[in-house]
Formats: sequence, C-alpha cells, structure tokens
Amino acid sequence: MPESMTEAAPGFTPGPDWAAPGALFPAKGDVVLIAAPLDVPPERLSRLVDLLSPQERARYQSFAHEQHRARWGAARGTLREVLGRATVRAPRDIAFLYAAHGKPRIEGLRFNLSHSGGLALIALGQIEVGVDVELPRRRRSDAIARRFFAPGEQRRLFALGEAERYREFFRLWTCKEAFLKATGEGLSRSLRSYEIELADAGARLLWAKGIPDAADRYSIHPLETGTACRAALVAEGRVSLRKYRWP
Ligand SMILES: CC(C)(COP(=O)(O)OP(=O)(O)OC[C@H]1O[C@@H](n2cnc3c(N)ncnc32)[C@H](O)[C@@H]1OP(=O)(O)O)[C@@H](O)C(=O)NCCC(=O)NCCS
Repeated sequence: MPESMTEAAPGFTPGPDWAAPGALFPAKGDVVLIAAPLDVPPERLSRLVDLLSPQERARYQSFAHEQHRARWGAARGTLREVLGRATVRAPRDIAFLYAAHGKPRIEGLRFNLSHSGGLALIALGQIEVGVDVELPRRRRSDAIARRFFAPGEQRRLFALGEAERYREFFRLWTCKEAFLKATGEGLSRSLRSYEIELADAGARLLWAKGIPDAADRYSIHPLETGTACRAALVAEGRVSLRKYRWP
C-alpha cells in the first residue's frame, strides 16, 4: 500500500510553534508547506506590493474588485518573501519563468502556490509539487462530479449519503486540481484522464492517461487547513511534509 494511504491527513492549524524557520530550503524527500493569511493590514499589504515587479504591479492594478486585488497582491508578495528566504535572495530579485501551460518556476527550487478566500498555501520541494486550496461554496457539486470526474471517482462518490458526498467532493476536487498543478498541465489535461481514490486518511492516484508509472510516481496528500478551506498537495515521489505558518 502506498505510504500516502497510511498517513493521517495532516492538520494545518497555525499555532505559535509553527513559525517558518530561517533556513527554509527543503531537504531531499521533504516538502515545505506554508499557510499564509491574505487579509493583511494595509501597512503589510503595501510592503508586500513593494516587492512586486512592474509586470506584477500591472496585474495587481488590473483587478477591478478591491478585495481580489489586495489578496492577489498579498499572495504574490508573500510568495516572493518565501522564495527569497528559501533561496537566500532578496525577494525583489526573484525572477519567475513560465512553463508551457503557465506554471511559474524559478532556478534551483520547485514550488507551487494556491489561494482561495483569505488563505494562500505555498509548497516548496526539490521535486515537482502541486497544491490546491478551495473555500467550499454552494455549488452544483453533484452535476460537476457527473460531468468532470472519472467513472470510478463518480461510483465511489455517489455511493455516499448527501452530506458526506458534499464533503468528499471538495476533498477530491482539491486532490484532482493539485495533480493538474503538479504536472503543470493545468486544464489542458482532462479531469477524466486520471483517477484518485480517497481513503479516511490519505488518498492515492490509481492511473493517469499518458503517464504509465503515474500511480508510483505521484503521492497525494489531502490537507486539513484548520479553516473552512479544503486543500491538497501532490508531489512527484513519496515525501514528508513540514508545515509552517507565515510570516
Ligand atoms: C491555473 C490552474 C492551474 C489553477 O487555478 P485555480 O485553482 O483557479 O487557482 P489557484 O489559486 O489554485 O492557483 C493559481 C496559481 O497556480 C499557479 N499556476 C498557474 N498556472 C499553473 C499551471 N499550469 N500549473 C501549476 N500551477 C500553475 C500560479 O502560481 C497561480 O497563481 P497566480 O494566479 O497568482 O498567478 C488551472 O487549473 C485552473 O484554472 N483551474 C480551475 C478550474 C476548475 O474549475 N477546476 C475544477 C477542478 S475539479
């Protein structure tokens, strides 16, 4: 049985002992996970926005909705702070490159970011990582599952009662989304082209079209965030998680 199936879904409630350490570069086999609040006081927001490149500032200014703008700016600024600490560089000097489907990357370290509502999650590793966080909103979850999930995923989901099915929908959704982000394919990959099985503690990838060794290659980690948000991490390889809050 893969390690990820036996591992309890880790809690993520930020606490006083969880402050990120000075040296943040992930060891081989570790993934560093950072939870950061995005609804920050105005002075902190302006310090974070100060770190952005001219292109990022243009994107920041382009949001019509003030809360969306502030959260995006806080997320990108925090990402620069975290990557700066991990690589011992000034946050302003981080230069992002973009892969074919838009996954941002930097030289020498793999990372991924997700934000939803007032929470951002950042994952750092020496291997490819994908992270997703979603604030559950009232959605037509049954209709979405029928339309987008793989047949086996649907079978397991619709064997559940309504309340449990609604909860499991978001656990599965975040795992599926984190997989798309780990491979970097984003929505260029069909959501039916791979299958994830959830267990009480953990989850595993059963197969993925076009990746013959997918089940062995990726580990799937549903995460508890300590908030209403659901979240998941997918890593290329079996990994240990080190979880911190920021700043
Ligand atoms: C871009 C995408 C990869 C994730 O988007 P999302 O879930 O809306 O947003 P998240 O906050 O989780 O992630 C956004 C971040 O992922 C990163 N990202 C962008 N493209 C990426 C890619 N191809 N692969 C991995 N990460 C990517 C960026 O850092 C981006 O941050 P930014 O918006 O501040 O630039 C894409 O898959 C998408 O649009 N998904 C949403 C569609 C959906 O409804 N899925 C249903 C799943 S069941």
